[in-house]
Amino acid sequence: MKKDLLSINDLSKADVEKIFKLADKLRNKRTNYLKGKNVALIFQKPSTRTKVSFEVAINHLGGNAISLNWNELQLGRGETIEDTAKVLERYVDAIVIRDFYHDHIVNMAKIAKIPVINALSHLEHPCQALADLYTIRQKKKSLKGKKIVLLGDGSNNTFHSLVLSSEKFGMEVVVSCSKNYKPKVKANYKIVENPKEAVKGADVLYVDSFVSMGEEAEQEKRLRELRNYQLNSDLVKLAKKDVIVLHPLPAHRGQEISSKVIDGKSSVVFDQSENRLHTEKAILQLLVR
Ligand code: CP
Ligand code: NVA
Repeated sequence: MKKDLLSINDLSKADVEKIFKLADKLRNKRTNYLKGKNVALIFQKPSTRTKVSFEVAINHLGGNAISLNWNELQLGRGETIEDTAKVLERYVDAIVIRDFYHDHIVNMAKIAKIPVINALSHLEHPCQALADLYTIRQKKKSLKGKKIVLLGDGSNNTFHSLVLSSEKFGMEVVVSCSKNYKPKVKANYKIVENPKEAVKGADVLYVDSFVSMGEEAEQEKRLRELRNYQLNSDLVKLAKKDVIVLHPLPAHRGQEISSKVIDGKSSVVFDQSENRLHTEKAILQLLVR
């Protein structure tokens, strides 16, 4: 395993399988693996799942979590990410960071000798993709040959991490988006602009916000251009009968997903959220030495 988890591409297929195996083992366990160790969690954007699941994961492994908002750190007053890394590595054993800029996280990892984990940047959300694949594997038994359709903003962080990882497991990856919102990473996926065509035969339907954190200025344009990609009952009916619906949350009900679908029988979104905890325990145990 590499020192850091910055992109889902930092993990080989074997690494991901190792994480899943360990997540299965640790899901109901408390260990002392991080006893005497401290992990700093830095958030430049809001978070419910990532913040709480990482804190709880660290607690389950016997370690100490130090959660910090950007503005309570000197980072908020202009101290550089590099100087912050040089200081924190002398105090803590790992850094989990959510930052608007992916480059900040990459720079922090270059400077720090301790592991740095990307807790979401504008480019990727690798911890989410791990929980997503783990959830699909849990519900569908295997990933190979399954068709996943990602609907909406193809250029967002969760979609990027998912298209980069799903193909490694032999999944058929389809992104259904308008031409202004195609993925910005190179991977093996097909674009099908028409959502009704895209969802045919899908095993997994996945949606995320049409307006991600930091993109509020484009809200009107995005909602207008992406409105046909809302995951509603009419679209779900066109997929396989046993299709599962995933969403990383937070959901904007009535925008990218209807309440009927997110609360319906195909939805596995809360198991998916729970799996953030199990997979993060495994990530921490494998990265923090
Ligand atoms: N899915 C996810 O990362 O949620 P939060 O923004 O609440 O952490
Ligand atoms: N794409 C969303 C994911 C939130 C977990 C965002 O960046 O806001």
